[in-house]
Amino acid sequence: MSTIDLGQNKVIDESKQGEAIFVEGTNTSNTKKLYVESYGCAMNFSDSEVVASILTKDGFSTTRNVEEADVILINTCSIRDNAEVRVRKRLTDFKKHKKTNPNLVVGILGCMAERLKKSLLEDEKLVDIVAGPDTYRDLPNLINEVGSGQKAVNVLLSREETYADISPVRLDQGGVTSFVSIMRGCDNMCSFCVVPFTRGRERSRDPHTIIRECHELFEAGYREVTLLGQNVDSYRWNISSKGEIKDESQPSTNFAELLEMVAKVSPDLRVRFSTSHPKDMTDNVLETMAKFENICPSIHLPVQSGNSNVLTRMNRGYSREWYFERIDAIRRILPECTISTDFIVGFCGETEEEHQDTLSLIDYAQFSFAYMYTYSERPKTLAERKYKDDIPEDVKLKRLAEIIEKQRFYSHENNKLQIGKTVKVLVENVSKKSTEHLSGRDGRNTMVVFPKGELTKGQYVYVKIEDCTSATLIGTVIEVCKPHSK
Ligand code: SAM
Ligand code: SF4
Ligand code: F3S
Repeated sequence: MSTIDLGQNKVIDESKQGEAIFVEGTNTSNTKKLYVESYGCAMNFSDSEVVASILTKDGFSTTRNVEEADVILINTCSIRDNAEVRVRKRLTDFKKHKKTNPNLVVGILGCMAERLKKSLLEDEKLVDIVAGPDTYRDLPNLINEVGSGQKAVNVLLSREETYADISPVRLDQGGVTSFVSIMRGCDNMCSFCVVPFTRGRERSRDPHTIIRECHELFEAGYREVTLLGQNVDSYRWNISSKGEIKDESQPSTNFAELLEMVAKVSPDLRVRFSTSHPKDMTDNVLETMAKFENICPSIHLPVQSGNSNVLTRMNRGYSREWYFERIDAIRRILPECTISTDFIVGFCGETEEEHQDTLSLIDYAQFSFAYMYTYSERPKTLAERKYKDDIPEDVKLKRLAEIIEKQRFYSHENNKLQIGKTVKVLVENVSKKSTEHLSGRDGRNTMVVFPKGELTKGQYVYVKIEDCTSATLIGTVIEVCKPHSK
């Protein structure tokens, strides 16, 4: 199980709450050592870069070696129960380090911090600091409070905080792909989901700071940005939730416009985004994607279920027919675009017929890949209050196996169709399986592996596809692309 592969594939699988990643700091003159571990979704990984930036300015340098840390911060996820179990185990490990280093400060950040608040601090005595996702500017103070013998907690959620002015310290030093947060929080209240409780109200980041960050990344050698938000289609700057301009004297920006602004940073900077919401994804966004070669033709459009009654119980705000219409719109406007998705099986009251609708939806959409989960009841959510988590675990697992099998078939079929074609790939890393090969993704977000030759990270190459598995395309480089002139 992995959380995120920073080098090869900037796709997050939140179900895989396992491997830690490390923030490699830049300021080696700083003497205090910070160790950060991140779990969960891309937002958390992006936030860890903000945390690293704030604490680097406060005299810390980051370390990969937990043994030499003065402060350990663990950025956590609450999306499913198993995510929390894993973090608790990790906190127990860190408690052992305190025996050898009594001055060690251990802090918990992110969604678990927000959800469990003081219980980790007071009842379970696992940590010294609890800091919610909107309080990272306060971390230097919280660390100082612990230094003076107190426990420190700040879990206030904000309606304004977007960390817009903070230039994140990149986790992936010398990397070519990066996340850029464009908004925080979520207002959707899907009945199964803990995110609105842990991350608070939705708010969008000033577009000028987003564009500035993208320019800085491009100048630093990055060649791909992924714009992040829980529901990117509802990005709005100076626009009310009813779609009206708030201040006529100021410019306003919706997601399609933001996408265009980012695409214009450079034709050599690829643009991706995640996550789109089926109820909000407009043709306008699809048409903007069609206009720019550097906006990658790949959309992550989580459906969760193929049955309209289940979708109503999930409070998703769309029906099976609506989702089909959105798939049709993508196929019409962007014929080359891949579509990926998320599924939850075994949601409260899901009948066998409702599950069959999810299977038939996979046949219709033929997704390029999918993240698939069994339902995990989360405290305080609408579903926990309103419905019974009544599908037995063995039935959930059987249904999960069925959708995995079907999805794997379509992933493989989609990849087979690419054999014989030539695709443009951004060279991202050494292949995981062979040091003689490199890997990168094509615009459609499929991993491509090819012999390394004299190539370097950050170059674009044309690769002729000769073979594939369900997850990877395999080919040979036929041409190195020249950068567009500035
Ligand atoms: N904002 C995105 C959207 O609306 O699709 C999803 C964000 S959520 C962090 C990622 C995925 O986790 C969801 O799409 C859903 O499939 C899954 N998920 C969320 N809550 C869950 C739960 N209680 N049990 C199982 N899976 C869950
Ligand atoms: Fe959760 Fe729904 Fe918001 Fe996604 S849109 S983060 S699933 S509440
Ligand atoms: Fe997990 Fe929070 Fe992301 S619950 S999936 S880290 S928004």
